[in-house]
Amino acid sequence: MSKFLTISPFLLIGQLESFVMKNALITKYLRIKVTSREFWVEIPKELGVYLDIKLSPKDWLEIQGTRETKGSMGIFKLKAETIKTLTRPQKACVMIMPEQASKKKILVCKQTRCWERGGKSLYQQIQAKLVDRSLMNQVEIRLTECLKQCKKGPNIVILPDEIQYNQVSVRQVDNLLEKYFT
Ligand code: FES
Repeated sequence: MSKFLTISPFLLIGQLESFVMKNALITKYLRIKVTSREFWVEIPKELGVYLDIKLSPKDWLEIQGTRETKGSMGIFKLKAETIKTLTRPQKACVMIMPEQASKKKILVCKQTRCWERGGKSLYQQIQAKLVDRSLMNQVEIRLTECLKQCKKGPNIVILPDEIQYNQVSVRQVDNLLEKYFT
């Protein structure tokens, strides 16, 4: 199994158990009960502000987002992208959609050491070049957690080939896109 991150869309329908707060204003996770299981769903900052006021425990929710699985142990994270309140009880379920095999991805390390060594400019440059080359429908760019090569940052991984590049500069972006995506 891949040692890198794999990302699949998910849809979860379940009942809100409780909030896990980042601070007094922002919800960091929702604990959701789906039949007899409990899932922690990570909430992005923009959705998390005052979410504990907008929702109440026992609300039925439909959450869509991405499931990130890392390593061979099958440990995964659910990250919400949309949260919808359902007006009446529903059949609880979690559906994980298969990853789109044909979609290629560029993962850019978002952790501080890579980000401050040029990762941020690199991420912006890749986005801009994907737009220039009309590749946005074929290639997805994602931020990822530390790739454990911090001294060699900024680091990226190209999927599905799982090729890691270290010390990548913005000047290399054109060549990389040509090599893998044209
Ligand atoms: S901070 Fe990027 S690899 Fe660790």
